Amino acid sequence: MENGRIPRHVGIIMDGNGRWATARGKERSYGHRFGSENVSRIVEHAFNSGVYALTLYAFSSENWARPQKEVDELMKLLKTYIRKFAKKFQKSGVRLCVAGDKQGLSDELIQEINKVEEQTSSHGEHVLNIALNYGGRQEIVYAVNKLLEQGKNVTVDGILSNLYTANCGEPDLIVRTGGELRLSNFLLYQGAYSELYFTDVLWPDFDENEFDKALEEFGKRKRRFGKVQ
Ligand code: IPE
Ligand code: IPE
Ligand code: MG
Repeated sequence: MENGRIPRHVGIIMDGNGRWATARGKERSYGHRFGSENVSRIVEHAFNSGVYALTLYAFSSENWARPQKEVDELMKLLKTYIRKFAKKFQKSGVRLCVAGDKQGLSDELIQEINKVEEQTSSHGEHVLNIALNYGGRQEIVYAVNKLLEQGKNVTVDGILSNLYTANCGEPDLIVRTGGELRLSNFLLYQGAYSELYFTDVLWPDFDENEFDKALEEFGKRKRRFGKVQ
């Protein structure tokens, strides 16, 4: 599953932007701007470190319940960044996909997503999944319904192959920044045997060095998958 001691697929719950801004006497959106700038840096570093795939939690199905102003700001940032990534990955080996319910997004955003997904669909060096309007429970329901629509039996492998992360397999490591010790509806099914790493560091402050600490910790974990070793 992992390549040596480097996790093959890492999921990141990028949490703490709001508190980062509040601590500086700024509006929450200020933190989201800094947080979004941190994404490229960590993506680049993770891929350079030998990680094959990243799934980044950018906006949950429950985040719509935030004040409209904050939701609008986040959607604007997401659009800008997906556009930026489209340019950046055009001539690279990175395949970009959105994991989540696209139907809940604006037409403009859906267009941007479809464009970049198409443009990078043949890229095979790395996978970058942006979890957007994503909920783990909703994803399981979606996968089961897809099996039923195809007249198939519902099996563990069948569900796994219809999840948004079927393009890169199960996450070996799930990192959560921002100090909360919970999954908040992230990768519930495919995370069954993921190693979990929690840090108090807020997402805008989570730099290359912090990412390396997570890799180092992962390297020390004994993964048993229920067996005796
Ligand atoms: C994570 O930061 C970004 C999103 C959920 C979109 P938060 O906005 O949750 O920041 P905190 O947790 O309130 O500090
Ligand atoms: C999880 O963070 C979602 C993202 C990081 C996109 P939240 O801030 O929404 O989670 P809770 O509300 O603390 O559980
Ligand atoms: Mg939060």
